[in-house]
Amino acid sequence: MIDYTEKIPNNVDLGRDRVLQRALEHWQPAYMNWWYDMGPSESHALEVYLRTATSVEPDGWAQFGYVRMPEYRWGIFLQPRDASRQVNFGVHKGQPAWQEVPGEYRSTLRRVIVTQGDTEPASVEQQRLLGMCCPSLYDLRNIFQVNVEEGRHLWAMVYLLHRYFGRDGREEAEALLERRSGDVDNPRILGAFNEPTPDWLAFYMFTFFTDRDGKFQLCALAESGFDPLARTCRFMLTEEAHHMFVGETGISRILQRTCEVMKEHKVENASDVRALGVIDLQTMQRYLNFHFSVTIDLFGSDASSNAASYYTTGLKGRYEETKIEDDHELQNAEYPVLEVSGSRIITRQVSALTALNERLRDDYIAEIQGGVDRWNKIMEQSGIAFRLTLPHKGFHRAIGNFAGHCISPEGEVLSKETWENNRDKWMPSAADQKFVQSLMTGRVIEPGKFANWIAPPIRGINRQPLNFEYVRFN
Ligand SMILES: [Fe+2]
Ligand SMILES: [Fe+2]
Repeated sequence: MIDYTEKIPNNVDLGRDRVLQRALEHWQPAYMNWWYDMGPSESHALEVYLRTATSVEPDGWAQFGYVRMPEYRWGIFLQPRDASRQVNFGVHKGQPAWQEVPGEYRSTLRRVIVTQGDTEPASVEQQRLLGMCCPSLYDLRNIFQVNVEEGRHLWAMVYLLHRYFGRDGREEAEALLERRSGDVDNPRILGAFNEPTPDWLAFYMFTFFTDRDGKFQLCALAESGFDPLARTCRFMLTEEAHHMFVGETGISRILQRTCEVMKEHKVENASDVRALGVIDLQTMQRYLNFHFSVTIDLFGSDASSNAASYYTTGLKGRYEETKIEDDHELQNAEYPVLEVSGSRIITRQVSALTALNERLRDDYIAEIQGGVDRWNKIMEQSGIAFRLTLPHKGFHRAIGNFAGHCISPEGEVLSKETWENNRDKWMPSAADQKFVQSLMTGRVIEPGKFANWIAPPIRGINRQPLNFEYVRFN
């Protein structure tokens, strides 16, 4: 169980390590300052129907109740330790999992933890204005839930930095509160986390696509030979599931509403659909293309000696490593990667070790495709011919083998000029964004009411009705 009598709720027996406890209690006010500055805009006095983790057991791990977000009990929760756990891959395979950081991997591990930790506050910063134009109280509560849990994920990484990395770790923990998403001088580490999330369509796309990148990274780190990292990431995954649910159902509800309006008014072309105050399917496709492409860049280069060494040294595994049936060393294995050769895209077999980023990206894309198929059922059931598709893996890439090439969503290699001429057909244009934002100028906060451009969800949160007061303004 989690101890909530402590200043910092935890299940790591923090009270027994006074030095660590004091260091974290020293970081806590800096974290709160960050939350007041960069957390959701004008939200501090609101009472929000939030879930709070109460135990790390899979069933019944959370309780729901009204909380003012600055009073949310951010804490440190690790999956319980399995004393028999081993390093399950790489050259240390079969050794007991490490309970302390192996000296030779110290700086690499610190970098991995800092890079993961940096994404957590970044997404809160990216989303901070969206509460001001929410489509319902239900959605407002959901974005706040996502935000407080991203804050907790930052705590999860900061705990590891403080507990296992001494002074360098404490300095990194401070720097995590100093970088800012999109800041010219001190930006967040990864590209997609410096892109603005200017509207709710972008928010749902982000939670569907980019939070799922988070899931896959956490899954790979949950296989780590460094046991405290593995256990931390396991518990974070429990929270992450809700974020992806918010994204997937958010997009479903927009599609649902658009299809209803198209059927009711017998309209098909985008401008007629827009005139009825809902988002046309073509715009949905363009947002999808953008978010998919910037998110798959986050997996890194197709060929990466870093990825190979993270694996060989036992620091970061594959997705569902222990369920894969092979030697878990990959010294002689190969993996197919794509590259551009002249005007064609070709497949080349490369060392499976250097291709581990690509493999994780492929696992991710397979899961994403499942979500897109579920979205397409909505059009199918409405008798509308339009289908959403994932663009080619090479489309609009800035990292890896496709960087610097101009690839169409269908996978043709194009000249820069042709690509640029089609850009607004494939990616959200300034006019698209202006239109989407024109639907979201104010917030809808009457219980049970939803903005015109989105359908209500099928059910409420924690079995509450749709007209439940998910956020109290008082
Ligand atoms: Fe997170
Ligand atoms: Fe998340």
